Amino acid sequence: MGQPTNRVFSGIQPTGNLHLGNYLGAIKKFVALQDSHECIYCVVDLHAVTAQLVQDDLKNQTREIAAAFIASGIDPAKHIVFNQSQVREHAELAWLFNCVARMGWLQRMTQFKDKAGKNAQNASVGLFAYPSLMAADILLYRATHVPVGDDQKQHLELTRDIAAKFNNDFAEKIKEFGHGDEGYFPITDPIIEGPATRVMSLRAGNNKMSKSEPSDMSRINLTDSADDIAKKIRKAKTDPEPLPDTMEGLAERPEAKNLVGIYAALSGQTSKAVVSEFAGQQFGTFKPALAELAVEKLAPINTEMRKLMDNPDHVDSILADGADRARVIAQQTMKEVREIFGFLG
Ligand code: TYM
Repeated sequence: MGQPTNRVFSGIQPTGNLHLGNYLGAIKKFVALQDSHECIYCVVDLHAVTAQLVQDDLKNQTREIAAAFIASGIDPAKHIVFNQSQVREHAELAWLFNCVARMGWLQRMTQFKDKAGKNAQNASVGLFAYPSLMAADILLYRATHVPVGDDQKQHLELTRDIAAKFNNDFAEKIKEFGHGDEGYFPITDPIIEGPATRVMSLRAGNNKMSKSEPSDMSRINLTDSADDIAKKIRKAKTDPEPLPDTMEGLAERPEAKNLVGIYAALSGQTSKAVVSEFAGQQFGTFKPALAELAVEKLAPINTEMRKLMDNPDHVDSILADGADRARVIAQQTMKEVREIFGFLG
């Protein structure tokens, strides 16, 4: 069986507070890739229980991510939208990848260190092995491209390392089964580009905007009302200087740089174009323009998400249908992977 050449996979955890960083760093790109690629978008609920075992209303959190995908413009009829736990093969391949990945590789993962905090001994084994499951998500579909925010870069490097080691260690078997010289798993390309690969907190320009930050004022949630969005932007931390006329002028101004990046990503321009448009203007002018733009882009998504959330059976049926279609690909991969490993049966 030949390699797919044009397949996108990406995922988002159903851990609440879906925010502007998730939208600009990931979902907006998912939407854009639909015309040129075969796309598979997954609500990664198995990942959601790695950091916190007991999740509050996991079912609704899962539906909410699916609703955000669809409300943002992902077409679940043309592409696949599903939740990870409905396709058991993710867990099976993750186990096998735990045997491919080396302890040293996982020990280098900065996200584990950040999430485990000071008490790493008390972190779950699942949190440690999280990147193996992520590699399994991607490689189960032999995806060639993975759109993500900047914080996932290291995990994607690990995915490439796992694919390369598997292809190398099983090279003979892979050829025996007729897969040619290119190996069985693709060496996946990350897609991390544009002005919003790392959206920062509205309260501290050196911290990433995140679901887990206690202050709700630090992020714009996709479920925020127009008033909340405007208020959060109005109150966003900035410095007293007007906007510069070159990108270099933003170098030491993380909060200003962040707001410019958000404006650029929402309006589909480069940060440079935004800087020239607003050169010399005060935040008193820029912030209302940004708030208006953010409301214009996010309010329709918010409205559509609410409609979908009012009809959970409809969302569930989309996810079940997506899982059925994902499973067809996943089962074929696992059949071949089992043969390559040499398992009986
Ligand atoms: P998660 O759920 O933390 O985040 C989902 C996506 O949002 C991006 N993101 C951001 N982008 C820009 N600025 C930010 N402040 C910001 N915060 C989050 C993330 O980079 C991500 O693209 N491990 C993944 C989920 C996952 C996955 C996968 C992704 C599991 N399996 C396979 C791709 C392929 C995660 O925790 O994302």
